[in-house]
Amino acid sequence: MKKSSISCGQQDFSSVLELSLELTKNYDHIPLCYIHTYGCAQNVSDSEKIMGLMKECGYSFTDKVENADLIIFNTCAIRENAEAKVFGNIGELKRLKENNKNLVIAVCGCMTQQKHIADRIMESYHQVDIVFGTYGAEKLPQMILDVLRENKRVFAICENGDLMSESLRQLRSDKIKASIPIMYGCNNFCSYCIVPYVRGRERSRELDAVYEEAKSLVEQGCKEITLLGQNVNSYSYGFVELLKKINSIDGDFRIRFLSSHPKDASKELIDAIIDLPKVAKHLHLPLQSGCDEILSAMNRRYTTNDYMRIVSYARERKPDFSFSSDIIVGFPGESYEQFCQTKEFLREVKFDNIFSYVYSRRSGTKAAELRDNISDSQKGLWLRELILDQRETATNWLSRFVGMTLVVLPDMEGRTGEGWLAGKSDENIIVEFKGGKSLIGQFVRVKITKAMNWALLGEIDK
Ligand code: SAH
Ligand code: SF4
Ligand code: F3S
Repeated sequence: MKKSSISCGQQDFSSVLELSLELTKNYDHIPLCYIHTYGCAQNVSDSEKIMGLMKECGYSFTDKVENADLIIFNTCAIRENAEAKVFGNIGELKRLKENNKNLVIAVCGCMTQQKHIADRIMESYHQVDIVFGTYGAEKLPQMILDVLRENKRVFAICENGDLMSESLRQLRSDKIKASIPIMYGCNNFCSYCIVPYVRGRERSRELDAVYEEAKSLVEQGCKEITLLGQNVNSYSYGFVELLKKINSIDGDFRIRFLSSHPKDASKELIDAIIDLPKVAKHLHLPLQSGCDEILSAMNRRYTTNDYMRIVSYARERKPDFSFSSDIIVGFPGESYEQFCQTKEFLREVKFDNIFSYVYSRRSGTKAAELRDNISDSQKGLWLRELILDQRETATNWLSRFVGMTLVVLPDMEGRTGEGWLAGKSDENIIVEFKGGKSLIGQFVRVKITKAMNWALLGEIDK
């Protein structure tokens, strides 16, 4: 098979329809696409755009990889184990490729935006036909055609571009909950993090474009809209303004957003969460560490005091205010004592939920150059310790809701038993209660009867 690198601007066809006809004539059936998305909500939203494009090109979708004519892996680079999983899964595709010469395999996203990864796939994973990064997805149909017609491999890693261009519309499979990207990229360069290198600098979408998209989703019956960005508070046209504008849309729905950076989290943001009725009463505010020296080495640009000021303001205004967070355990040079400061700080803040990870070295980042003398297995023990501690805090803290009525949007059957439903409350807490499946996708008022460490149990409030 020939190797090739195409330039980022190449496109032979003037309309998607023309391209679609060219593509589908390679098959005697409706071609099927299988897409596996790794990583965060941003990637899920990008995959929905890719699916929208492939649908326009005449493809249908399958969740059985062995039935696919086109396999797409949209990858994540945030931690080493995320990358290892992708390589493992690509390896398994070799067998499918041997059985079906017409199968096209594409790998894209944050992982392949890194040159050393794209090179490794080029050299060692010949079953992969197409590699692109976080830019240029709109050229995927053209790339597929090049593979099918000319039997060549296409590597198209662009350094910049209009990420997931505005022209691509998301194909959303979930009609109840939808996400809208409001900005792409990140300018923060936290010293451990690969995102600014693979997603480029911050670019915000126009406020009106986001508003119109939200309005149309609500008109189609969507009940929960999540606004996405690596740091939504630095949305160029004013994040609180955007919240107000979306809050003014008529309809029964709620607004969530991900993620906020503590250095930019303002009192106005807390006020907006508390005062705007459609904004869910919860803030995911990644802390990363509860030790000031480590925060500084991480280049987070806030102290534990700054963080606590936000928490205190929120809890003065609303004592049961719900926070969740992300924590990294075992940053290079972190001592056990410094780790214990994080554990202690989590107890003070009282988070309902945390996502915690062992630090993973990302080549190209500042922290990758630091000396690290604690083993991964030791860090794994610290992580366990933190999780157990947090579980205890959460169980106690979640009990503040017992006796209260929360608004829940059930979206699946519950784990508790037959006839139970599960969904998130406004406070972003999993609530399970007994109810008929017809309630799925509707807001339900649930009176809380019991707190566990992972969820609340309750009954419908009549
Ligand atoms: N922009 C978001 C986070 C995106 S990444 C924010 O700043 O909140 C999601 C989480 O992955 C981060 O909050 C961090 O806790 C974790 N993470 C990022 N890089 C990591 C690394 N190198 N090792 C371990 N965890 C990491
Ligand atoms: Fe990474 Fe920091 Fe940007 Fe979040 S804010 S994506 S952790 S660099
Ligand atoms: Fe992963 Fe890229 Fe998201 S690195 S966490 S998929 S922005």
